[in-house]
Order: sequence, then C-alpha cells, then structure tokens
Amino acid sequence: MQELPSSPRNSKSLSMPFLGLAAVLLLFFASHTSSCTEQESSSLINFLDGLMPDGNGGLNDSWVNGTDCCKWEGIICSSDGTVTDVLLATRGLKGGISPSLVNLTGLLHLNLSQNSLEGSLPTELVFSRSIIGLDISFNRLEGHLQEMQSSNPSFPLQVLNISSNFFMGQFPKTAWEVMKNLVALNASNNSFTGQIPSFLCINAPSFAMLDLSYNQFSGNISLGLGSCSMPRVLKAGHNNLTGALPDGLFNATSLDHLSLANNGLPGVLDGSNIVKLSSLTVLDLGSTGLSGKISDSVGQQRRLKKLYLDNNSMSGELPLALGNCSNLGYITLRNNSFTGDPSKVNFTMLDLRTADFSMNNFTGTIPESIYSYSNLVVLRLAFNKFHGQFSPSIGNLRSLSFFSITGNSFTNITNALKMLNSCKNLTSLMMGTNFKGETIPHDETFDGFEDLQVLTIDDCPLTGQIPLWISKLAKLEVLDLSLNQLTGQIPSWIDGLGFLFFLDISSNKLTGDIPAALTKMPMLLSERNAAKLDTRFLELPVFFTPSRQYWTVGAFPGKLCLDNNNFTGVIPPEIGELKMLDILNLSSNSLTGEIPQEICNLTNLQMLDLSNNQLTGAIPSALNGLHFLSRFNVSNNKLEGEVPSGGQFDSFSNCSYSGNPKLCGPMISNDCNSRTFSASGKRRNNLRHALVIGITVGDSLLLFCLHASLLQG
Ligand SMILES: *[C@@H]1O[C@H](CO)[C@@H](O)[C@H](O)[C@H]1NC(C)=O
Ligand SMILES: *[C@@H]1O[C@H](CO)[C@@H](O)[C@H](O)[C@H]1NC(C)=O
Ligand SMILES: *[C@@H]1O[C@H](CO)[C@@H](O)[C@H](O)[C@H]1NC(C)=O
Ligand SMILES: *[C@@H]1O[C@H](CO)[C@@H](O)[C@H](O)[C@H]1NC(C)=O
Ligand SMILES: *[C@@H]1O[C@H](CO)[C@@H](O)[C@H](O)[C@H]1NC(C)=O
Ligand SMILES: *[C@@H]1O[C@H](CO)[C@@H](O)[C@H](O)[C@H]1NC(C)=O
Ligand SMILES: *[C@@H]1O[C@H](CO)[C@@H](O)[C@H](O)[C@H]1NC(C)=O
Ligand SMILES: *[C@@H]1O[C@H](CO)[C@@H](O)[C@H](O)[C@H]1NC(C)=O
Ligand SMILES: *[C@@H]1O[C@H](CO)[C@@H](O)[C@H](O)[C@H]1NC(C)=O
Ligand SMILES: *[C@@H]1O[C@H](CO)[C@@H](O)[C@H](O)[C@H]1NC(C)=O
Ligand SMILES: *[C@@H]1O[C@H](CO)[C@@H](O)[C@H](O)[C@H]1NC(C)=O
Ligand SMILES: *[C@@H]1O[C@H](CO)[C@@H](O)[C@H](O)[C@H]1NC(C)=O
Repeated sequence: MQELPSSPRNSKSLSMPFLGLAAVLLLFFASHTSSCTEQESSSLINFLDGLMPDGNGGLNDSWVNGTDCCKWEGIICSSDGTVTDVLLATRGLKGGISPSLVNLTGLLHLNLSQNSLEGSLPTELVFSRSIIGLDISFNRLEGHLQEMQSSNPSFPLQVLNISSNFFMGQFPKTAWEVMKNLVALNASNNSFTGQIPSFLCINAPSFAMLDLSYNQFSGNISLGLGSCSMPRVLKAGHNNLTGALPDGLFNATSLDHLSLANNGLPGVLDGSNIVKLSSLTVLDLGSTGLSGKISDSVGQQRRLKKLYLDNNSMSGELPLALGNCSNLGYITLRNNSFTGDPSKVNFTMLDLRTADFSMNNFTGTIPESIYSYSNLVVLRLAFNKFHGQFSPSIGNLRSLSFFSITGNSFTNITNALKMLNSCKNLTSLMMGTNFKGETIPHDETFDGFEDLQVLTIDDCPLTGQIPLWISKLAKLEVLDLSLNQLTGQIPSWIDGLGFLFFLDISSNKLTGDIPAALTKMPMLLSERNAAKLDTRFLELPVFFTPSRQYWTVGAFPGKLCLDNNNFTGVIPPEIGELKMLDILNLSSNSLTGEIPQEICNLTNLQMLDLSNNQLTGAIPSALNGLHFLSRFNVSNNKLEGEVPSGGQFDSFSNCSYSGNPKLCGPMISNDCNSRTFSASGKRRNNLRHALVIGITVGDSLLLFCLHASLLQG
C-alpha cells in the first residue's frame, strides 16, 4: 500500500480488514432490520410508475423510494429481507404490469387479482425462476401469451390463475413442457383457442386442478389425464370441444369435479367407465349431446353431490339405483327424453335442495318419497306427463321455495292450493297448463302463501272469476292468469297488492272498464317503490323463456297485459301515472275514445299495443319522446290524422298502423296533403300483418304477451 486513502468514499482503496468489518456490520444490520435491496425497491417503484396516477390504490403513500420496501403496503419479506410476496388483490389498480417485477429474484407469490390492469402479461412473470403462485385473475389483460424463448429445465410455478381476462390465441405450448411443478391452472373465461395439449400430466405429475371453461378451445379432449396421478378438478365446459369422452378420462380415479358442459361430446355415458370415478362429487355434462340411459352404476357414486345432465338427448327410465346417491343435493335432468315413473325410485337424498325433472316424458304422480325432503328448495316438474292430486304430505316440504308443475295433467286445483298452502316458504308457484276445464276457487281462504311472489296459472283453461284470495297475497309481484276463460271484471282490490308489477290477464273473457285501481298499482308508480322489491335470488336461473333466463323476479319487466278480452270504455288518462311500465298491451278489446296524451309520460315503455280496438282521434305526436319504444301497434282502430315521426317512430313500418284508413303520413304512403286515402287492399292485408307481428314477437315472449308456457318454470 503506497497511498493512503484520499477519501473514505473511495471503497477501492479501503483496506481489507475494514471491508470485512463493514461486510459483517452490514450483514448484522440487514438481518436485524430485514431491509430489502435497492434493486428490489427500484423494481417495485418501476411497477408503481407503470400504474395510472388515479389507479395506484394509494400505494404511493407507503411506497417511497429510499425507505425499506419490506415495510411497504402489500409487500412481505423473508427474515433476510428478500421480497417474497407482492399481494395487491382488489386495490383498484389501473394501468399496466411492469416487467420490472421480474427483478424481484426471491419473489414467491404475486397476487394482482381483481384490479383493472390492462395490456399484456409480461412473459418473464409466467416463466419466472422464483414465482410459485401467480394470480392475475379478474383484470383486463389481453393479447397472446408468448412462448418461452430460452429453454430451461424446470420452473417452480405451482399455481397459475389468469382467469377472467381477455387473453386469446393458443395457450403457450412451452408452458406445459416446462411447468413441471404445476398443481393448479385456471385459464377460464378468456378467449383461448386451439387444442388442449395432451401431455399435460406426463410433464406435471402433481397436477390436480385445471379450469379451462368459458374459452374457445376446440378439438378432441385428449387430456391424457390417465397419466395424472391425482387430478381432482377438471373443468372445460363452455368451449368448442368435440368428439367422444376419451376412455383415459376415466382413469383419473381421484377426480372430484368433472365439468364439460356446453361442448359437442355426443355418445353414451358408459356405466362401467363412470363407476371408476368413485370420488366424484360434481358431474356436469349438461348440453353436451349425450344420449342413452343413466346407468345403474350411478348408484355407486355415493359421494355425488351435484349431477347435471340437462339439455341432452338422454332417454329411458331412471335407474332404481339412483336412489342410493344419498348425498345428492342438486340434480337436473331438464330437457331430455326420460320416461317412466320416477316414484319407483326410492329417493333417500335427505340433503336434496334442487331437483329439476322438467321437459321430459316422465309419467306417474309426484314420488311420495320426495315429500320427506325437508331441505328441498327447488322442485321443477314442468312439461312432463305427471298427473294426479297432491297429497297432504307435500306440506312436509318446509323449505320449498320454487315449485313448478306447468304443463302436466294434474287435477283438482282447489285441492292443490289447499295442500300447497302449508308449504310456508313458497315464493314461486307455477301451475299453468294443468287442471283442464276446472273452476278456480273463488271464496276459499288460504291463510298460507305469505311469501308468494310469483303465481302463474295460465292456459288451463279455468273458468270462474279473478279470485278474492289473491288479494291476500301481500308479497305478490308477478301474476299470470292469461289464456283461461275467466269472466267478470278486474277487481277493485288490485292496487292493494303493493308489490305487483307484472300482471297478465290477457286472453280471457273479462269485461267492464279498465278500473281506476289498475292505474294506482304502487309498484308501477315510481322507482322508489320498485326499489323495495326483494332481490334475493336462488342458486339457479329459475325463470325461463325460450330466449332468456332470469335469476331474480326483480329482473322482470313492468308489465300490464289486458289484451284479448272484452274490456270496454276509454283508456283512463291516469294510466300515464304508471311510470315504471315497460309493456302495455290493451289490444283486441272494445276500447273506445282517444289515446290519452298521458301515455306519452310512460318514458320506460318498450312496447305499446293498442291494436284491434275502436279508438278514435289522433295518435299523440309526443309519443315520439318514448326513447325505448321498440314495438308499437295501433292497427285496426278508427284513428285519423298524422302519424308521429322522429325518434323511434322512424323505425316502425306500416303494419303498426294498418286498418286505420284515415291515418296519413310518409311512413304509410298516405300523403297527409292529398285527400285521396286509398284504402284498397288494406283490409285484405291485415291478417298477414297480424301474422308477421306474431312471428317477430315470438322470440321475446316475456316481453310481449304471447302466453303459452310464458314462464317455463
Ligand atoms: C431510488 O433512489 C435511488 C437513490 O436513493 C436511486 O438511485 C434510484 O434510481 C431510485 N429509483 C427509482 C425507481 O426512482
Ligand atoms: C398518491 O397518488 C394520489 C393519486 O394520484 C395523489 O392524490 C396523492 O397525493 C399521492 N400521494 C403521495 C404521498 O404522493
Ligand atoms: C432488472 O434490473 C437490471 C439491473 O438493475 C436492469 O438493467 C433491468 O432493466 C431490469 N429489468 C427489468 C425488466 O426492469
Ligand atoms: C389472491 O387474492 C385473492 C383476494 O384476496 C384471493 O381470493 C386469492 O385466493 C389469492 N390468490 C392466490 C393464488 O392465493
Ligand atoms: C366450433 O366448432 C365448429 C365445428 O368445428 C365450428 O363450425 C365453429 O365455428 C366453432 N365455433 C367457435 C366459436 O370456434
Ligand atoms: C387407463 O388404465 C388402463 C388400465 O389401467 C390402461 O390400460 C390404459 O392405458 C389407461 N389409459 C390411459 C389413456 O392412460
Ligand atoms: C314425449 O313422447 C312423445 C310421444 O310419446 C314424443 O312425441 C315427444 O317428443 C316426447 N317428448 C320428449 C321431450 O321426449
Ligand atoms: C326406501 O328407503 C328408506 C330409507 O333408506 C327405507 O327405510 C325404505 O324401506 C325404502 N323403501 C323401499 C320401498 O325400498
Ligand atoms: C324459509 O325461508 C327463510 C328466508 O329465506 C329462511 O331463512 C328459512 O330458513 C326457510 N325455512 C326453511 C324451513 O327452510
Ligand atoms: C278436490 O279436492 C277437494 C279438497 O281437497 C276435495 O274435497 C274434492 O273431493 C276433490 N275433488 C275431486 C274431484 O277429487
Ligand atoms: C263484448 O262486449 C260487447 C258489449 O257488451 C258485446 O256486444 C260483444 O258481443 C262482446 N264481444 C265479445 C267477443 O264477447
Ligand atoms: C303527463 O302528461 C300530461 C299531458 O300530456 C302533462 O300535462 C303532465 O305534465 C305530465 N305529467 C308528468 C308528471 O310528466
């Protein structure tokens, strides 16, 4: 050593002993304060800089350069001060994910789930040398996932969750090859395409959970799952997979949850195969094109809790052994061609909560054994060939909330109501197309039904009047009595039903005026009232129309359908008070007078049908202020004057107006200035117009007023 250090800062010239001491001191210092390295805090600061100023989740308050990043919010360090966890789920983060995070060389867990992050996912993070858990689910990330560039023997990643983003393209092949430690992969709810790789488990022996549902994967399922020692969850539903279920699938004997719903996988569910999956608790093969019977071996599926076979082409009788699936809590066989009498099966599923047998060809009476299911919440038997009367023991179904028997041949409506009256938890009762030609009980008092929100008894046809006992259903929201032979008037107590917002009494033989009470229905009067509706929803979509599914009653439109009766008198101007109305149909009655101006106040209106009455006067031009109106029909009245124009009215064709020879306007090629209203051919065309409207309306049954099996239960 010739020179003395000119400055203590010149570390190069420090003597070795000094350096050694400094190092020891540094280590000592570090291990006791666990402070992270400058490179780590830099990486994190760079990540923060990649976020938008209004989307940093307040991280900038603690993430200050120069302070120990182990103390920053969402950061966890190991005892030696290495950043191991970056946990920033649900922070409201916006912006991109900076690749700088890859410089956190000791990072084990990165959780950025449920934010609003955009852009691409840095490939370096997927193929990180340290990360074992990566969760970036529920963001707005997009683009292709890149293949890995350099080859490296193995990566530690065990859990990868990239679900619910906007990723597309093929899932990177190299990922399957190098991720030898992968245990769980969730890529659901993106737009991935291409085939599911076949060698998954050959490379990752501990693989246990795969969720690829809600993508656009195609091709055969050739998962080679037989070579996985312990897959527990396999979900690939709602893709575009084709071909038969591969035999290898059934080698995965540890499978707990198998869901392939909504793919094209025709074939028969082979009993000798399915029985191998003895650990199954969830089997979802709905909408896959399966045919054939349910095999007897299903009875050996003792752990099965949920069985979905809906929307297939399955047939035959239910195997008696089905009764042995004693843990079953959920079964849907909806929309198949099953036959026979299910009451032969001795159901012993005391935890059964939901049973859907609708849309099959089942016969017989309601299985007595079902009556002991005190936990049953949903029972749907709609559209079968069941018959008979209800036994008093139906009252044992204390939890029954949703009950649909629409479209069967049950008899004795008086008895049915009496028996069901003791199911105190009933909220939806759908009984249409039964009780053929019976008379609806009128004066009976039913002191139950306290919670009833939905009641449909349409298309039976029933005689009698709108019964008084309905006035006691204090929570009723939806009432459908359409397509019966009911006579008499609309009862004046109707506005006492404080929650009713959907009333369909069309296609009956009702008479009299449109009563003032109808224009005072509280739920249709204001938004404030509508907010009081119960928004509870069941665990499955329970209300169906051919084109829609509804999870809650509250999602239904506000609706008044009085069409196809023999109502007389004028349309009361007070109808303009029903601001919450979406649909108003008064067609095919004998209404007279003018269309009240006040109808123009119904600003939510989507459909207005006043056709086939004897209305006179002009069409209020202010109707063009109804911005949501998509269907409008005033045909076959005695209206005159100019047809409204502007707004929605520019989209209505002349079938909205036909059969009113004195109407004029550019829409209907009757010039208002010329007085030569040629009515030639108009009448003859009416029938065809009516037909056209009927057909176009058919795809939105619930919105309009065609009633047969309106709510399919
Ligand atoms: C953090 O501060 C150090 C000096 O204290 C500086 O060298 C570094 O560039 C800063 N990092 C960032 C990301 O600003
Ligand atoms: C953090 O960011 C927010 C939003 O951009 C800003 O209002 C706030 O002043 C910042 N706080 C600090 C300490 O920089
Ligand atoms: C990682 O750190 C090195 C050295 O500080 C730097 O050169 C590099 O750009 C960083 N990488 C990323 C992706 O930020
Ligand atoms: C990420 O955080 C969310 C929210 O706290 C949590 O639900 C999820 O399980 C975490 N992901 C992983 C892989 O631990
Ligand atoms: C699904 O597959 C069918 C038949 O291979 C093809 O016609 C269709 O376009 C595919 N759909 C999507 C969304 O990939
Ligand atoms: C399934 O197991 C059987 C019997 O152990 C075996 O012969 C067959 O090759 C396996 N299938 C697959 C696809 O692994
Ligand atoms: C029920 O059976 C009838 C005739 O027996 C058949 O026409 C109909 O298609 C079957 N319905 C279903 C859903 O299988
Ligand atoms: C039905 O199952 C119950 C409970 O396991 C049993 O007590 C009853 O005897 C069975 N009935 C028939 C007809 O098998
Ligand atoms: C009836 O419904 C209420 C409200 O949903 C629920 O709290 C109660 O447990 C139900 N009763 C039974 C017997 O299921
Ligand atoms: C219908 O039910 C009522 C009440 O339960 C009963 O009195 C009556 O006899 C039944 N009618 C028929 C035809 O079975
Ligand atoms: C409707 O009522 C009017 C007046 O009461 C009557 O003349 C007419 O025949 C009734 N029409 C129908 C279809 O019942
Ligand atoms: C309803 O319409 C009438 C007539 O068109 C109008 O005078 C009245 O102000 C409207 N009421 C409301 C609350 O918009």
